[in-house]
Amino acid sequence: MAFRFGLIGAGVAAELHVPAMRAVPDVEVAAVTDVDRGRAQALADRLQIPEVYESTDALLENASVDALAILSPHHLHLPAVQAAVRKQKHVLVEKAIAHTAEAAEKMIELCRAGGVTLGGILQYRFTPAARALKEAVLSGVLGRIFLASVSVKLRRTPDYYTRAAWRGRKNEAGGGVLMIQAIHTLDLLLWTIGMPRRVFARTATAAHTVEVEDMAVGLLEFPDGCLAVLQATTGAVPEDPPELEIHGDRGTAATFDNRGHLLFWLSTLDRPASLADRWRMLASQYREQEGDIPRQATTDPHAENIRDFVNAVHEGRPPLVDGIEARKAVLVVDALYRSAQIGAWVELP
Ligand SMILES: NC(=O)c1ccc[n+]([C@@H]2O[C@H](COP(=O)([O-])OP(=O)(O)OC[C@H]3O[C@@H](n4cnc5c(N)ncnc54)[C@H](O)[C@@H]3O)[C@@H](O)[C@H]2O)c1
Repeated sequence: MAFRFGLIGAGVAAELHVPAMRAVPDVEVAAVTDVDRGRAQALADRLQIPEVYESTDALLENASVDALAILSPHHLHLPAVQAAVRKQKHVLVEKAIAHTAEAAEKMIELCRAGGVTLGGILQYRFTPAARALKEAVLSGVLGRIFLASVSVKLRRTPDYYTRAAWRGRKNEAGGGVLMIQAIHTLDLLLWTIGMPRRVFARTATAAHTVEVEDMAVGLLEFPDGCLAVLQATTGAVPEDPPELEIHGDRGTAATFDNRGHLLFWLSTLDRPASLADRWRMLASQYREQEGDIPRQATTDPHAENIRDFVNAVHEGRPPLVDGIEARKAVLVVDALYRSAQIGAWVELP
């Protein structure tokens, strides 16, 4: 029998989820709800979703729904999970899993106590390049990792924040560019090299008229002394694809655009070269040495994330991105905000 999702929220994320769910065998989009009923209806009409409901509670009365996909503003993720657990439905929650690490912790406890599966969406973990990057670090091919950088320099027009006002409000989104955009690339860093011991940050609102930060610079220090630098903005003109670089004492690995349109490493770069030459050399070495690792995602990573969640429910195991995994980047983002607020390093628990 097909696994049936009910969607909570019919905005931008829902547009991604419907085709991704349909790309997974034996998964169906059964229903949708949105506080803006017209938006839910329009999505249902356009994408042939059979049922439209007035509210989350009404949708939860549909006994044929197996799980909620929670695609609403960040501060509404926890209340939706609470409602789902009451009805014994599994939950798949878009990033950021919650607007604070504390809310994420409550969610994890609720789902554990209620015996339902909690999954998060951090779809870039499912790209072949991100997996290859993690494997490169774990296998030791890069040597000892001592430095990393996360660069997320995007462009969001004022309209991005006015179309969905929650994105500009601290108590609803939980934060700005760090919580909404940079969280993806930050998560890839944490997934690859682990959690930092302490963080330091400065944040500001420079290019938009919103409450939340639209630029941030951070430092992360890891237990083994590795340092990472993070830069993020939604005010870049023009924007750049997000980039993650990891440097070991025997090589470097990088992903671009979170999908790894390029990914390469090498252990023997022994002569100086211009930047362009350097990347060319790295790319050619990569092709020679690691040609069997795909450099480009061939499938929709959202679909892979959803597939793993559904399989996890069937197999009675935690999903690869469970609540604990999905909370990690929120925990680090919260600590970066705290540091920016107090002007000092903040230790991670
Ligand atoms: N993984 C990704 O690549 C990706 C991309 C976009 C958005 N997101 C995430 O998806 C979530 C939604 O973001 P978005 O950009 O789609 O926002 P959005 O504002 O476009 O859509 C959210 C929708 O939720 C609806 N909503 C608000 N309160 C509700 C409630 N109580 N019940 C039901 N619906 C309600 C709104 O009316 C709106 O239609 C966020 O967590 C965001 O970070 C993830």
